[in-house]
Amino acid sequence: MHKPFQPPPRLLMGPGPSNVAPSVLQAMSAPLLGHLDPVFVKMMDEIKAMLREVFLTQNEMTFPVSGTGSAGMEFCFVNLLEPGDEAVIGVNGVFGNRMVDVAERCGAKVTKVEAPWGRIIEPGQMAAALKDRRPKLVAIVHAETSTGALTPVEEISRLAHEAGALFVLDTVTSLGGCPVRVDEWKIDAVYSGTQKCLSCPPGLAPVSLSPRALETATRRKTKVQSWYLDVNLLAAYWGQERVYHHTAPISMNYALHEALRLVLEEGLESRWKRHERMHGLLRKGIEALGLSIASQQGHQLWQLNSIAVPDGVDEAAVRKKFLSDYNIEIGAGLGPLKGKIWRVGLMGDTATEPNVAKFLDVFAHILKH
Ligand SMILES: Cc1ncc(COP(=O)(O)O)c(C=O)c1O
Repeated sequence: MHKPFQPPPRLLMGPGPSNVAPSVLQAMSAPLLGHLDPVFVKMMDEIKAMLREVFLTQNEMTFPVSGTGSAGMEFCFVNLLEPGDEAVIGVNGVFGNRMVDVAERCGAKVTKVEAPWGRIIEPGQMAAALKDRRPKLVAIVHAETSTGALTPVEEISRLAHEAGALFVLDTVTSLGGCPVRVDEWKIDAVYSGTQKCLSCPPGLAPVSLSPRALETATRRKTKVQSWYLDVNLLAAYWGQERVYHHTAPISMNYALHEALRLVLEEGLESRWKRHERMHGLLRKGIEALGLSIASQQGHQLWQLNSIAVPDGVDEAAVRKKFLSDYNIEIGAGLGPLKGKIWRVGLMGDTATEPNVAKFLDVFAHILKH
């Protein structure tokens, strides 16, 4: 006979998922409702309203796609791109590359604007790429979780619109942890994930489309390549009609409702400030240990800190010790940064003073021994 699964009590300080408030876990164990039950439908409306507050947008087409952050990414590209369309995509880490892969699978001709991993996409690079191009869309990753760099959005959004393009932004790691202003920054399509700074388990991808992006999706010449992610069909379930499309993950939506409620109870500005403060404490602590943050000065993420591995230290052995002896998960470097950085997440509920202090204590101890 198999025994019931009992996970150990980990402190999640990696690139996500982050720790989750007890009330979010409790929400997931509430009795199920049918996905067309009027009580569930009312809760869906509240989720949409809260997501609009968190994204700082008036966009009607704002809801959680069933699936993780990557489903949100695919949702944006499959709905906006048709075969033969041009796309310009910033690549400065894993997730820029993933966007390129997804856009190419939609049949788009992709131009990459590349920056070294750990650095931001500079507006000047984007301006150069858009000089002689009129792409259908321009896309960048706001917070590159693989490197810890935060690319400023507004100037690139302006350049994209000047070139007649839609502007798509990945906010999987930024939403809830630092400013994301969808309407003010004129973002046409934005997606996120639940498991980072919203502190909810992974499983839903909040998305929002501007009226212009929605019109692009509804006026396509070709069918959206994905039935599951077609906004024209999803709109009938998340909009007024409430027509069955797929069975919504009921308990995940309960969890997101509670997580968003907690985000708004804390207040967006206070939440951003908390993430900034925790990053400051962590940075001070690691500098006192003679170490430094590896991503570009002036553009370092608060919620994901990439710490440069000092010469002669076995990066993987340190992570292993954190997990096996202290129940703390931290992340490894990926791609060209493999073995060169640790990625320490301070996202959502994980971003507290006691957690930062505990990490620094354990880190100092491990490095010494
Ligand atoms: C910036 C960014 N984009 C997209 C994704 C993909 O999200 P998921 O792993 O939830 O599918 C991630 C996940 O870490 C991410 O950090």
